[in-house]
Amino acid sequence: MAIFLDTGKLEEVEKFLRMGIIRGVTTNPTILLKSGVTGGKEAIRKRSIEIAELIEPYPLSVEVTTNDPKLMIDQGREFAQWAENINVKITVHGPGGELENFEVVHRLETEYNIRVNMTAMMSAQQCLLGALAGATYVSLFGGRVNNMGFNCVEEIRKARKVLDDQKLTTKIIIGSTREVLNVIEWLEAGAHIVTVVPDILKGMIIHPYSKETVQMFLDDAKKADLLLDKSR
Ligand code: E4P
Repeated sequence: MAIFLDTGKLEEVEKFLRMGIIRGVTTNPTILLKSGVTGGKEAIRKRSIEIAELIEPYPLSVEVTTNDPKLMIDQGREFAQWAENINVKITVHGPGGELENFEVVHRLETEYNIRVNMTAMMSAQQCLLGALAGATYVSLFGGRVNNMGFNCVEEIRKARKVLDDQKLTTKIIIGSTREVLNVIEWLEAGAHIVTVVPDILKGMIIHPYSKETVQMFLDDAKKADLLLDKSR
């Protein structure tokens, strides 16, 4: 069981890493754009290396920026050379349902010994096939599944059961967090990893009643003069 951070922001990675909470980081082109990473491949390379060095030996997922099969292989090989703990994200298929992505994943894993995170998955059946193709991780987008009117918890349960039954070692990452309660719910359903945006992680920690309770302790400590150690 692990929590990854779904961000491209260095300061967020540093903060939660120092707290000892996260065991990896995931990005995609949209997340990098929102994190202020613009300026082409060099900008992606720079930010990816910075994050990878920060979190090493934990993994960082970096997504290819093309759906051309040859270029996906080329980019995947290049990204994987930036740092040992970088794994390459390849979408389950292309925007038009192109199937070549599976071959790309299989080749990166078996021919080039590169760890792949097969992403943009919406169903247990896609997860099973990704695992059979050899992906190290399969990323199911929980929030998006729910938004389509399906219950992602059922997909997580089915995916975990079939991977376990078939003794497949692929790890299931659930991304696309939308609510604080998603995290425990999805881990309980069988996700190996939930990748969480920083605001949701903060929301998991901060509780209004904890705030009130801590304030009570501090107020009473003041009243009782417990803040001062008068023996010194
Ligand atoms: C993580 O791997 C995914 O890329 C990410 O969680 C997707 O989130 P979104 O559905 O909010 O775009």
